[in-house]
Amino acid sequence: MFIRNCWYVVAWDYEIPDDGLFARTVLNEPLLLFRKADGTVVALEDRCCHRLAPLSMGRKEGDCVRCGYHGLKFDGQGHCVEIPGLASVPARARVRSYPVVTRNRWVFVWMGAPERADPALLPDNFSCDHPDWQHVPGYLHYDTSYLLICDNLLDFSHLSYVHAQTLGGSDEIAHARPTIEPIPRGIKVSRRVHDVPSPAYHAPMRTSDGNVDRWFVYDFVLPGTLLMDSGARPVEDAPDDLSRALRFHSCQTLTPETEHSTHYFFQEAHRTGMGDGTLARTMHEGLLVAFEEDRRMITAQARMIARSPGVSMLPLAMDAALVRFRRIVDEAIAAERD
Ligand code: FES
Ligand SMILES: [Fe+2]
Repeated sequence: MFIRNCWYVVAWDYEIPDDGLFARTVLNEPLLLFRKADGTVVALEDRCCHRLAPLSMGRKEGDCVRCGYHGLKFDGQGHCVEIPGLASVPARARVRSYPVVTRNRWVFVWMGAPERADPALLPDNFSCDHPDWQHVPGYLHYDTSYLLICDNLLDFSHLSYVHAQTLGGSDEIAHARPTIEPIPRGIKVSRRVHDVPSPAYHAPMRTSDGNVDRWFVYDFVLPGTLLMDSGARPVEDAPDDLSRALRFHSCQTLTPETEHSTHYFFQEAHRTGMGDGTLARTMHEGLLVAFEEDRRMITAQARMIARSPGVSMLPLAMDAALVRFRRIVDEAIAAERD
C-alpha cells in the first residue's frame, strides 16, 4: 500500500528532454513524461488504451504523443485526438493524466485524486536551485522498499559504522541522542556531536586541522523527503561564529517504484564561494561513495528480511524516529482508505 495523495518526485528536470519521451514507474504505475512546446512537463499513463502498448515507444508530435503501435494520438490531458482510419474518436479513448509541478529542479507528480493536488504540500527543496548553494544532482535506484531507506535516514547512528571512512569518522555520532519533534506531515530530528574528528567527506573543504562540532538538523516529511541543515565548525570557535564552518543543505527524497524498488533523488549543497568550480563535483563523488555504502547495507538487509519470515526485529531506543515516521505513514494510508 502507498500513500496516493502526495507529490512524488519523478525526475530531475534535466532528465526530461526538450524533445522526446521519458518513462518511469511510480507506485507501480507506468508514467510517460514529455515537454510541451512551452517547456512545461506533461505526465500521462504510459499505457495506450487501445492494446496497452507503452506510449513511450511512440513519438512526440508537437504537444501530443502518438502511440508507436497503431498510431493513436493523445494530447497533454490524455485525450485521444486521432485514430488513424477512423472518422471519430470514442469518448472512452483516453489515458490517465497526472498533475505535474516542477519546483527547484525536481519534477513532482501527484499520484492521488487530481482535485486534491495542493501545491502547498510541496517540500521546500530550495537548495536544489539557489544562487547561494552549489551541488551536483544525484539519483540512485534501489532494489528495496522505500521504507527501509527512510529507516536509514531517520537514524544517523549508522554514520559511525556504515560510513566510518566517509561521512562518519567517530563513534560519538552513534552515542549522541537526537531530539525528535513533531512537525506537519513528519518529524524534525536534531543531532549534535561535540569535539570529534572531521570526517573524510569534508577533507576537500576543510578550513582547520583540529576537531569539530557537528550538527545534523532535518525535517523528514511525507512521502519520504529529507530536508537537512548540517555542518561542522572548528571546536575552538565560538558557537555563534560560523566564519570557518562548513555548511551544507541537503534535499533527498524517496519515490517508490514498486513495493520492492525505489527511486532515490538527492543532493547535498555547500555554500557558494567555497573552493573552485570543481568542488561541487568532488563533494558529489564523495557523497556517492557513502550512498553506495548505504545501498550495499540496506540491500543486504532487505534480502535477509525476505529470507526470514516470522523473525521479528528487536526494537531499541535508537529506532524512535523511524518508528514515529512509520506510524505517520500508516496513519496517512489508513486515512486514505477511510
Ligand atoms: S496499442 Fe496503441 S494504438 Fe494500438
Ligand atoms: Fe547513510
